[in-house]
Amino acid sequence: MITIKNAAQIAKMREAGAMLHEVLSQIEKKIEPGISTKELDRFAEKLIRSYGAIPSFLNYEGYPASICTSVDSQVVHGIPSASTVLREGQIVSIDAGLILDGWQSDSALTVGVGAISREAQRLIDVTRESFFAALAFAREGYRISDIGHAVQQYVEQRGFSTVRALCGHGIGREMHEEPSVPNYGIPGHGVRLRRGMTICIEPMIAAGDYHVRTLADGWTVVTTDGSLCSHYEHTVLITGDEPELLSLPGYHKEEKR
Ligand code: MF3
Ligand code: CO
Repeated sequence: MITIKNAAQIAKMREAGAMLHEVLSQIEKKIEPGISTKELDRFAEKLIRSYGAIPSFLNYEGYPASICTSVDSQVVHGIPSASTVLREGQIVSIDAGLILDGWQSDSALTVGVGAISREAQRLIDVTRESFFAALAFAREGYRISDIGHAVQQYVEQRGFSTVRALCGHGIGREMHEEPSVPNYGIPGHGVRLRRGMTICIEPMIAAGDYHVRTLADGWTVVTTDGSLCSHYEHTVLITGDEPELLSLPGYHKEEKR
């Protein structure tokens, strides 16, 4: 079922999104060579709880942490660990979600650890840019596949590939609601977007091939060819006009963060 949110519900999701943005910004500041992903997870959980929210990932289908930390060829759902100590030159995606007064927000970004290669930086940049290219279609009247098509076009024209096995999703009282939001496809298909829908758009972009597999821990998704992968995600509100990035408060189209 696709849920349409009313003004009061949107206000709550806006609050949750602003809080999540603050959490991710604080985590981002701590990323440097020598920190373990477990430390980042502990920091995130404390911060989320200190704001009176609940880390939505913790215990979600048995997931054992409050954030996902996916390093280099890890695509998503990397489990924080004391033995995963970040090293200069790596890239790490931080994916986090929280529940405030019953309303969810979900967002991710990828950052370099210390100095990274030009190619790694370009992958991070193109991934973020593909999100904003797709956002142009997150408007009333377009269809779900217009979003994925925009991501695919943007990244393939730049020599990267878009992971197909995992998708974005609707969000609201649940972290994962309908519709599914693929990052590839032909335009003009699927659910028509309507104001009051809230969706997570989350391109996962590989430097090499788009095929992925899951490690024996049952969670960590990696590229099959071992190529670097980057991830970028926001909780987005469809309006009668420009989309609103609930997890990036103060965003205006012109800024292109
Ligand atoms: N943020 C992920 C998503 O976008 C969900 C994380 S799965 C969890 O779908 F198990 F870690 F919670
Ligand atoms: Co998501």
